[in-house]
Amino acid sequence: MKHAHHFSFLLLFVFLFINISLGFAQEDEKNDDWWKSTTVYQIYPRSWYDTNEDGIGDLEGVIEKLDYLQEMGYETIWISPFTESPQRDFGYDVSNYYKISPQYGTMELFERLLDEVHSRKMKLVFDLVMNHTSNEHEWFKESSSSRDNPKADWYIWRDGRGKHGTKRPNNWRAMSGNRAWTYHPERKQFYYTGFLPFQPDLNYHQPDVKNAMFDVARFWLDKGVDGFRLDIISAIYEDSTLRRNPMSIHMVPSDKSLTIFFQHLKHNFLQEESFEFSTELRNVIDEYDHPKRVLIGESHGREDLIHRFCYDKGKNGLNAVFLFNAVSMPFKAKKYRKMTENFERYFAEPLVPTLVFANHDRTRTITRLGGNVNKAKLLAMFQFTSRGIPFTYFGEEIGIPRVRIPLKEGKDAIAIQNRKTPQFLVNMSIETLNRDECRTPMLWNSSANAGFSAANAQPWLPVAENFKEINVEKQMNDKNSQLNLFKNVIHLRSQTPALHKGKLEIADEYCSKKVFAYYRIFEGKKYLVVLNMSKSVLKNSFPKGQILLSTNNNYKADFLQGYEGRIILCE
Ligand code: NOJ
Repeated sequence: MKHAHHFSFLLLFVFLFINISLGFAQEDEKNDDWWKSTTVYQIYPRSWYDTNEDGIGDLEGVIEKLDYLQEMGYETIWISPFTESPQRDFGYDVSNYYKISPQYGTMELFERLLDEVHSRKMKLVFDLVMNHTSNEHEWFKESSSSRDNPKADWYIWRDGRGKHGTKRPNNWRAMSGNRAWTYHPERKQFYYTGFLPFQPDLNYHQPDVKNAMFDVARFWLDKGVDGFRLDIISAIYEDSTLRRNPMSIHMVPSDKSLTIFFQHLKHNFLQEESFEFSTELRNVIDEYDHPKRVLIGESHGREDLIHRFCYDKGKNGLNAVFLFNAVSMPFKAKKYRKMTENFERYFAEPLVPTLVFANHDRTRTITRLGGNVNKAKLLAMFQFTSRGIPFTYFGEEIGIPRVRIPLKEGKDAIAIQNRKTPQFLVNMSIETLNRDECRTPMLWNSSANAGFSAANAQPWLPVAENFKEINVEKQMNDKNSQLNLFKNVIHLRSQTPALHKGKLEIADEYCSKKVFAYYRIFEGKKYLVVLNMSKSVLKNSFPKGQILLSTNNNYKADFLQGYEGRIILCE
């Protein structure tokens, strides 16, 4: 009897042990590389939801709208900067990495937000602006105060050239088009900026700077943040010998060439050391295992180069980098095919590409598509079914358009800098010199201020005029809306392993000038995604199988409507 008792106790123990370790294994499996199959929603906090009637969105507003994002099916939220800042570049000019800007809330509120996100089994990442600080940061104040203070070399200081030292140290331009050097009268030297003159670049050749920034990262990781979007990581290092940049035939940067005003930014962007830095940074986040954290880098440049941020010389680096190709990609089947092939080539497993159509710097997607909702739905189908991490910029799911705001009224630092550019020139380009135009508030409903701010408040930027037709509430109730297509395809993706972690194969036999098609395959199941990128109605020659989703709710099995996309479970 006693033995039997012992035996059942032992059995129970073995049972528990197996269960616990299996539990861990499952947990691990889920945790492992969660970022590869996630979906990300970018919140620009200033424009998201204002709860205190000051016309500016806030962290409380992010908490209040979490249910919306959960209902949509998004798993990860990326919030643009909300730490202390003079707000000249709306948070991308940090004056204290350890404090929350009072405009947005408090540290307590942030911690509550993080808890609320995690209790919904979602993840939260935010911007780590490592490349530069605000010129109002204490570090810069100290560094600029003399040539021999303890932080004298924390930024990039150089003597001027010429007899009087008044000529800039070299010909470098910044990403914003500005000259990259600004004279500082107190130090009687120039400091370097990769973006705007009030954002001095930190000197990462100085180990103390690196350590200070890694400590910033650890501070937030200790709080439980799931990772970072690394602002302008391509600019982190510059050639310390200041070699002159060569000329280029291009005027503006593209995904193929890092150029501004006919200058190739050869020696101040994308330096070899940046790739090594990525592996060091990876070691920092790898100190945190449960759950794993993620690093997503912002870099422009060709895929065959920037994939090195993720894996270089046998070492892991960032988990992903933004691929901006889709932002300006012509709406053509062959172009999408080529882009996907390139992503598959340079970001093959175990790497993962990113799928990005818009952000707080670029023209709104629907405007780029000439207001065509069917095209927008088709792109969403591509974005959530192709292999990669999809990023939705807030409001993309309802089709917030670019809101025209004249340059001279711009609050954006780029607009202020370009104030003298004639407006007619600005209007000619689809890209904008006034980023306010893509940062206007979220459209929640058809009440005053589109439900973004109370009726008596003055939103910091105007709400889009057509908010009565285009808003979340209205689209939630319309089964044919853009929002519902987003929601359906996101849910289908998360319920279907092949769509979020399957292999991608181009379906060559169905690709044409008009159609882009690919398979997603996982554990014997095969899904075909067919995208008719033309306005023609096409006869269906696709294999038999269940149509799981179409971008057109009135689809006909025998025909593919113009701009229709479909997901088919192959038999
Ligand atoms: C890239 C960010 O996306 C942009 O908004 C910002 O102005 C620059 N980096 C400088 O931080």
